[in-house]
Amino acid sequence: MVNYKVADENLTDQGKEALYIAESKMPVTAKVIRERFQKKKPLNGIIVAGCLHITKETGNLARTLKAGGAEVYLCGSNPLSTQDDVAAALVQEDINVFAWHGNTDEEFYWCIRQCLDAKPNILIDDGADMIVTAHHEYEDLIKSGTIIACQEETTTGVKRFKAMDKQGVLKVPLFPVNDARCKNQFDNELGTGQGIVSAIYGMHVLFAGKNVVIAGYGHCSSGMALRARGLGANVIVTEVDPIKALQAKFAGYQVMPIEKALANADIILTATGCKHVISPTKENFNALKDGVILGNLGHFDIEVPTKEIYEYAKEIKPIRQNVEEITFPDGKRIYLLAKGRLANLVLSEGHPAEVMDMSFALQSLMSEYIVKNKEQLKPGMVDVPVEIDDRVGFLKLQSMGVEIDKLTKEQYNYIHGYEEGT
Ligand SMILES: NC(=O)c1ccc[n+]([C@@H]2O[C@H](COP(=O)([O-])OP(=O)(O)OC[C@H]3O[C@@H](n4cnc5c(N)ncnc54)[C@H](O)[C@@H]3O)[C@@H](O)[C@H]2O)c1
Repeated sequence: MVNYKVADENLTDQGKEALYIAESKMPVTAKVIRERFQKKKPLNGIIVAGCLHITKETGNLARTLKAGGAEVYLCGSNPLSTQDDVAAALVQEDINVFAWHGNTDEEFYWCIRQCLDAKPNILIDDGADMIVTAHHEYEDLIKSGTIIACQEETTTGVKRFKAMDKQGVLKVPLFPVNDARCKNQFDNELGTGQGIVSAIYGMHVLFAGKNVVIAGYGHCSSGMALRARGLGANVIVTEVDPIKALQAKFAGYQVMPIEKALANADIILTATGCKHVISPTKENFNALKDGVILGNLGHFDIEVPTKEIYEYAKEIKPIRQNVEEITFPDGKRIYLLAKGRLANLVLSEGHPAEVMDMSFALQSLMSEYIVKNKEQLKPGMVDVPVEIDDRVGFLKLQSMGVEIDKLTKEQYNYIHGYEEGT
């Protein structure tokens, strides 16, 4: 029997179309791995719980895990990123889904608990909320070894687990899938880079000629800066890391502190994983230009100081779904995207399926790896094995018909040796 709570089961047909479109763009996850899983059933008897953005790509990950024999439970990792049609369609395929767009914080955690109540063996998180909840409220699942190991999909989650590990409170083996090369060099950089276009699209503004401030120059934000420049914007980067700031400077961007950048900004986009990137002061709010667009693509809604902006507002007027015109006491209007939450996921459909193919190929192969190696796994952070990262890279190249060179024995020995010199 399938367990679920979704917004509207009548959206199933629409959701099926979305899953089908993504499937055709995910040849590694939804074809090569799925077909092998279907035959070999490496996840037989395993319950996988995913706290992920419920998108058509995640739907295809769930189908692949199910093809491998797993029972799959899903809940949303962000209150505004769930695609209700996809959630409805997955239920029809006997995937247990607890997710709907616009859930409250209380409902968000209720959904997580429904997944943990199923006593899962593998947890796949995006932002750490499910695994942290397991540590706080489901200690038995950890102590009994029911939870074999966990996987984390995003940078913010990995940072939270590193902090737990450092403090000695991480009690499960944790694979930071985000840190694999096939994940952050493509999903974060290309996906989020392209995501700014979809995030802003509904505002009908031209990037060309605009002053676009990008906060951060990490994986996501450097991709965003590149795309904004490609669209003709004058890009200003803000950073706190001197090396990243140098990289931005040498890439040809203006670099300055955010407070200096505010007054001339037409669009401000954050993706840092930090909080209060724009510090919530009256001076900063007053410095903003009339008509400025504020958006965040980082994991939580605190990079742009959303709560404080709402408190300072004289009037909040929704002008499209999840876009608000906010009037400040002096009459100035600013435009806040997605209530400060991941604008690319809330206002559009998240990353293109082609990049999620690699992220979710890693999540699929790591689930298989965890089952195969369960006796050897110890609590703490464990890197994704290089062989799995490389395998996803090769499979992706193969799916695109791209061949590459292979090291000869002589070349291998040379680059791993020291004897040969001048
Ligand atoms: N929107 C999406 O679809 C999506 C996809 C992947 C990751 N993410 C999220 O985006 C965020 C960034 O991820 P990433 O992989 O780029 O991380 P990253 O660590 O590669 O980059 C973050 C950068 O922000 C900088 N930074 C930190 N605090 C800052 C501040 N106050 N002002 C200016 N710069 C600051 C850091 O020095 C770093 O260079 C995370 O929250 C991550 O979970 C979102």
